[in-house]
This record gives sequence, structure tokens and C-alpha cells, in this order.
Amino acid sequence: MANKRVLSGMRPTGKLHLGHVVGALNNWVKLQNEYECYHFIADWHALTSDYADTSRIKENRIEMMVDWLAAGLDPKKSVMFVQSAVPQHAELHLLLSMITPLGWLERVPTYKEQRDNITDKDLGNYGFLGYPVLQSADILMYKGNYVPVGEDQVPHVELTREICRRFNSFYGDVFPEPQALLTPVPRLPGLDGRKMSKSYGNDISLSDTPEEITKKIKVMMTDPARKRRQDPGNPDICPVFDYHKIYSPDETVQTVDRECRVAGIGCIDCKKWMSEALLENLSPLLQRRKEYAARTSEIQDIIADGNQKARAVASQTMEEVRKAVKLS
Ligand code: TRP
Ligand code: SF4
Repeated sequence: MANKRVLSGMRPTGKLHLGHVVGALNNWVKLQNEYECYHFIADWHALTSDYADTSRIKENRIEMMVDWLAAGLDPKKSVMFVQSAVPQHAELHLLLSMITPLGWLERVPTYKEQRDNITDKDLGNYGFLGYPVLQSADILMYKGNYVPVGEDQVPHVELTREICRRFNSFYGDVFPEPQALLTPVPRLPGLDGRKMSKSYGNDISLSDTPEEITKKIKVMMTDPARKRRQDPGNPDICPVFDYHKIYSPDETVQTVDRECRVAGIGCIDCKKWMSEALLENLSPLLQRRKEYAARTSEIQDIIADGNQKARAVASQTMEEVRKAVKLS
């Protein structure tokens, strides 16, 4: 167990929100006590779709690292680095691209889906099609055994396994086959009930103050059928109740579950209990975030140190790879 490796990355899309914490970071923080963990900021992956305006990438990298640290990732336990600071990823990506059939890439569900749905950018570029090949290089570079990702990323890990097998069959056993690590995460919708996303404007950002969070929750969507205080509600379709289930004590969850249905409580009180429970849980993270955000040079040092550790592993892997491909 001890020397099994975990690897995962995130595209630097700016400030993170509560969905990232509940959906990924809490899990990463737990894993760092059990495995050798590598976590990186996938800035090259951000370029596959956002190549036209790269002005925010540098800033976003720092923001993301601040959020990771605030969430509890510990640079003494996990190697945290920036993808583009380890150029070996590009070299491995190139070699893997040679052995990856086009049909495999055209079949990837995220590829088809995003080409159909994203209309404000031109995604007819080579880098976008090759996105999962670069991701495979990220994973194989560190000989990752487990890749903690969300459901939508599982096809990318599956593709990585296929590329891994193909590489090993041509050049000998270099890479272990990675496995997706799907941890069940509680449902945390955005403030309007849709998926939480900064672009929907329905998120609770880690850069929000407690006052801003309380204000956002006050106007959060509830059961739309519950227009007046005396109308009974249905917590099963209310996003506030999803939050209660994550943050409130069982007793409160049971009270809300019972009393909402008979109009025994009002939404104002219900939300107040929820925001208090949420803030109690989140306060330490918000506080740490504020502290880290003010210590930019320390953040730079943590990134530089992570980059160096990652490069050491990557350069060793690439030596093996070049030898296997008979290029050394
Ligand atoms: N594609 C991932 C996402 O959008 C980010 C990512 C890039 C990644 N490389 C990775 C995740 C390697 C896991 C392993 O979330
Ligand atoms: Fe939602 Fe609570 Fe209002 Fe019920 S009482 S509709 S659970 S906010």
C-alpha cells in the first residue's frame, strides 16, 4: 500500500468553489495519508481550449495552489506541481501520440460532447483532440496506480489504460496500468439547483467572506412549490437540504426532513441553520486561504519545490522510456 502512487490534476480555471472541495479536494487530502501522492496544475490542458487568451493562466495557477493548501493538501506529504514546469510531459505526450489510433480519440465522450456544445471557441484544433493523450502522459509519467477523478473523467483513464497496454506491448513493460479511483461524493448542487459552476454564477467561492456566503444562502433556491410560509415543502428537491445533509448534525437533518413537509418550519430558519453549520465547517479553510493568499513568495517556493521533485521522477521515467523505444 505504502508505495502505491496516486496522481491527479486540475485545470487552472481560477478560484475554486465549494464543489471542488466536496467533489475532489477533501478526497485528495485523505489520500495523502495513505499513498504517495502527486497533484498538479494542468495548465497545458487549459490551453487546449483557452489558447486564444492566456493572460490569466499565471494568476490562476497561484490561486489554485492557495486553494489546495487551504483545503489541507500538505506539501510535506503530497508533491504539488505545475505541468508546464515539467517539460518531460510534452516529450511523453509526443511518443504516446505516435501509438494512439485516431479512432480511439474520436470516440472519447468528452471530445464529442464538448465539440457539439462549446460554440464560443473553435475546438477544431489538434491539441483538443489530443487532450486525453496528454492526460495519459501525465498519469503514466509518475507510474500512477490510482487516479482519483470524477465520473466524467473515467473515459480518459480508460483510454490511458489502453495506451499503456499498447506501449508496453510494443516496447516492453514500462508502465503499470492505472486505475480510476471513484469515491462516492455527496451531491452538492449550486445555489440555483444546477451543477455548481463559476460560469453559471451559482457557486460558493473559496474567496467569498462568511458574510457573502450568508447573503448568497439567503437568496438560494428552495422548493419552488413552497411560496408561502404555510405551504408544505419537499426537501428531496430542495438544494438547501442537500447542504444540510453534508454539513448539519443528524438531528437537524431529521427535523428539516420532517418539519418542512408539514410547514412546521420556514425556509428562513432552515437556511439560517444551514449557513451556520456550513460556516462552522468552512471557517478554518477560509481563514487559511486568507493567510496563504497574503504569502505569495511562500507559495512560489512550494510550487518550485514540487516542480523539482516532479522533474526528478519524470526525468528518470523518460530515461527508461527512451531506452525502451531505443532512442537513448
Ligand atoms: N482532465 C482533467 C479534468 O479536466 C484534468 C487532468 C489533466 C487530469 N491531467 C490529468 C486528471 C491527469 C487526472 C490525471 O479534470
Ligand atoms: Fe428547503 Fe428548508 Fe425550505 Fe424545506 S424548509 S423548502 S428544506 S429551505
